[in-house]
Amino acid sequence: MPSNAVIGLQWGDEGKGKVIDTLAHEAHVVARYAGGNNAGHTVIVGDEKYVLHLIPGGILHEGICNLIGRGLVVDLGALIEEMDGLIARGVPVEERLRLDGRAHVIFPYHRHVDGLVEKWRGEGRIGTTGRGIGPAYADKVARTGIRVADILQPKIFQTRLKAAMAEKAALIEKVYGEEPQNWSTLYEESVQMAERLRPLIVDGGAMLREAYAKGEYVLFEGAQGALLDLDGGTYPYVTSSWTGVAGIAGGTGFPPNHLDRAMGVTKAYTTRVGEGPFPSELFEEVGERLRKAGNEYGATTGRPRRCGWFDGVVARYACQTNGIDGVFLTNLDVLSGFGNLQVVTAYREKEEVFRDYPSQVGLGKDLEMETTELPGWTEDITAVRNFSDLPKACQDYVRFLEKEMGARIERISVGPGRDQIFMGESGQEDLWQR
Ligand code: IMP
Repeated sequence: MPSNAVIGLQWGDEGKGKVIDTLAHEAHVVARYAGGNNAGHTVIVGDEKYVLHLIPGGILHEGICNLIGRGLVVDLGALIEEMDGLIARGVPVEERLRLDGRAHVIFPYHRHVDGLVEKWRGEGRIGTTGRGIGPAYADKVARTGIRVADILQPKIFQTRLKAAMAEKAALIEKVYGEEPQNWSTLYEESVQMAERLRPLIVDGGAMLREAYAKGEYVLFEGAQGALLDLDGGTYPYVTSSWTGVAGIAGGTGFPPNHLDRAMGVTKAYTTRVGEGPFPSELFEEVGERLRKAGNEYGATTGRPRRCGWFDGVVARYACQTNGIDGVFLTNLDVLSGFGNLQVVTAYREKEEVFRDYPSQVGLGKDLEMETTELPGWTEDITAVRNFSDLPKACQDYVRFLEKEMGARIERISVGPGRDQIFMGESGQEDLWQR
């Protein structure tokens, strides 16, 4: 049985929620390995819309174990709220969800510091989601973090929390000149929440290795996207975790050489939330039209997403650095009626041409795009279920993206519904079956 990964090939929001939901019915275990509740994965089931932030996308399927891996940073209050929201809608969350005890915890002081650091950065702000993600990962690396399992050991937790609160209070007061919040009930509240979660806490790595050894199908769910990866992304405008395939082993405890295949997800155009380089960004009328047509507003923060043409340099770089075996192309329907379409194929800065994503991109004002213009199409394609029924111009557009990425487009999605998916021209029928 395979172990496969699904990751984003752009700056997040590629539609991974829908892809995971589509593939999840084949899986025995779905595991998240990075990030936290900065993610927002939307799944539409019939008339029902679910937005998942921390809980993996297999949660809506019977008989699937969903793991929050050790590489995540977990806001316990946010997790419990998300669980309760699903329970209220009839999803048996406790049966289907597991949490690795090694995952680090986001405390209110992390959220507070996240906001203060952003303010401090001024013009250089990253545009974080404000969920405390960066500060929690910073504590983990500095070895002052607190893990879920630590909360269940009163002495250890008391000592570490006291030290962390003292350090954060000094930071907030002395560096940022603000009043620390009142954390007097934090110990009790955290213990209470951890006790509620106790039955779900496992050694996630051991669970995954055992599932794999038994021949079960393990599916890894990426969050954010390859260009937000701490090492591979547009640093410093990135998130604080390893969002790509390389993050899986560290973020779960699953051996890297047991991973069989990686699927990349990309929109048929590009979006980004927050600050940072975005070479193919569109402004004014076309950008606004894309935003409206694609309903491009953040699922977590509601912020309007920046929109732009499909950037072949970005997608190719993401495919190559993550060893992508196949691509799931989403939101193709959004491009109907846009007139001619541009695809970025390279960047140029002065005399230098970049076909591969360069480390310093977008910071210089001299950056220019090399683009190819392709004819658009006007037809509504949301009801199409066969590649050959797509308008000819649309087929050519998809083929062009495939060539640019150097990866097979396995599946194409033409709307938010579970059924609005069909096989790419070079897709494989038995994709990732048990
Ligand atoms: P943080 O992860 O909250 O620290 O935010 C760092 C950057 O990553 C910001 O530009 C966010 O907008 C972006 N980001 C974080 N999570 C997501 C996501 O799920 N989708 C899109 N952008 C994200």
